[in-house]
Amino acid sequence: MTDQGRYRLETKLVQAGRDAARFEGAVNPPIHRATTLIIPDADDLYGTQKKTYALEGMAVQEALRRALIAIEGGDDAILAPSGLAACTLALLTVAKAGGELLVSDSVYGPTRRFCDTTLKAFGVHTCYFSPDLGEGIAALLHDKTCGVFLESPGSLTFEILDTPAIVAAARTRGVPVIADNTWSAGVYFKPFEHGVDLSVQALTKYQAGHADAFMGAVLAAAPEWTRRARDMHKNLGLHASPDDAYMTLRGLRSLMVRLDRQSASAITIARWLEQRPEVAFVLHPGLPSHPDHTLWKRDFSGASGVFAFALQREHGGNVHAMLEGFALFSMGFSWGGFESLIVPTSDNLRRTAAPRRDDRPLLRLSIGLEHPDDLIADLDAGFARLRA
Ligand SMILES: Cc1ncc(COP(=O)(O)O)c(C=O)c1O
Repeated sequence: MTDQGRYRLETKLVQAGRDAARFEGAVNPPIHRATTLIIPDADDLYGTQKKTYALEGMAVQEALRRALIAIEGGDDAILAPSGLAACTLALLTVAKAGGELLVSDSVYGPTRRFCDTTLKAFGVHTCYFSPDLGEGIAALLHDKTCGVFLESPGSLTFEILDTPAIVAAARTRGVPVIADNTWSAGVYFKPFEHGVDLSVQALTKYQAGHADAFMGAVLAAAPEWTRRARDMHKNLGLHASPDDAYMTLRGLRSLMVRLDRQSASAITIARWLEQRPEVAFVLHPGLPSHPDHTLWKRDFSGASGVFAFALQREHGGNVHAMLEGFALFSMGFSWGGFESLIVPTSDNLRRTAAPRRDDRPLLRLSIGLEHPDDLIADLDAGFARLRA
């Protein structure tokens, strides 16, 4: 194994987690299908540091954890069976009965559902705050606040949060901050450089990247957070499958090549959409027209391939004809894979702190690896169906 610190990200992604000497020269770690571990020495059965059960993962999960730390930094990475399981693990790590969580209004819907149902049933209150609140969050922090949960950009509506300002306010009260950093794939935004305590990744998206494996991770900034997240992980009995860990690690090796391409195609398509008469506005943080473009430029080093656009009101009627007739864009509820996806999202928006006042149909795109000119031609034909 090599010292990773001095390399650029592309190189780290190729090197991280590899240990050929340990695996008879094999480039990739083996998949152990294991539950029981045989322990020859009775002294090792209880109370030692040795691994005694495969629930916590074997070589391939270890390699994936090391690769994730190489990308995002932090003290450790704890794997979860899906991105949503990583979100709920992070929330449970900080939640306290009788406490209150401050959660950004534009978080991923199922994260919100977990807060509003499961956490509520266990006596944890959730207060949603407007994604543009920034340092104003100080007014919401009180003695019962047990954590702040951010997602930037927000799901479906793509607001960029002022993470450093929120972290600074939370720090003064000793309140931990969690960030769902999935959109950036851990590449374009570095939560730990901004003082975040727990970073969440839905590795199902860009890291696995091929629409065939679920995986999630919680990365901890410091050993205390590793310990707390690990204890909760153990209590919940979470396990990341070795096959899916392998697929995710395999995806990670080509992450930058895919992201570079998907990111470049996405901004090209976003600019093209901005010029279309059928389009009311485009929500891509990399466009100067995005309301939070300045914040994005300050804190992010790039943009992935997921963004949204709204149709002009008069073009709302034929949206289904447009959506169902695409040759390249498919409708599907995920993103970050090699294939381009489109979904209408207006019906799926749940906002209470900052309700959406605009009723124009909102569509989310996940730009894949197809040639951008082909994708633009597909969208162009879609707009013809819209106008028909
Ligand atoms: C921002 C965000 N976080 C978490 C998740 C959950 O990931 P998974 O589908 O792996 O459960 C998603 C899925 O769409 C997401 O968009």
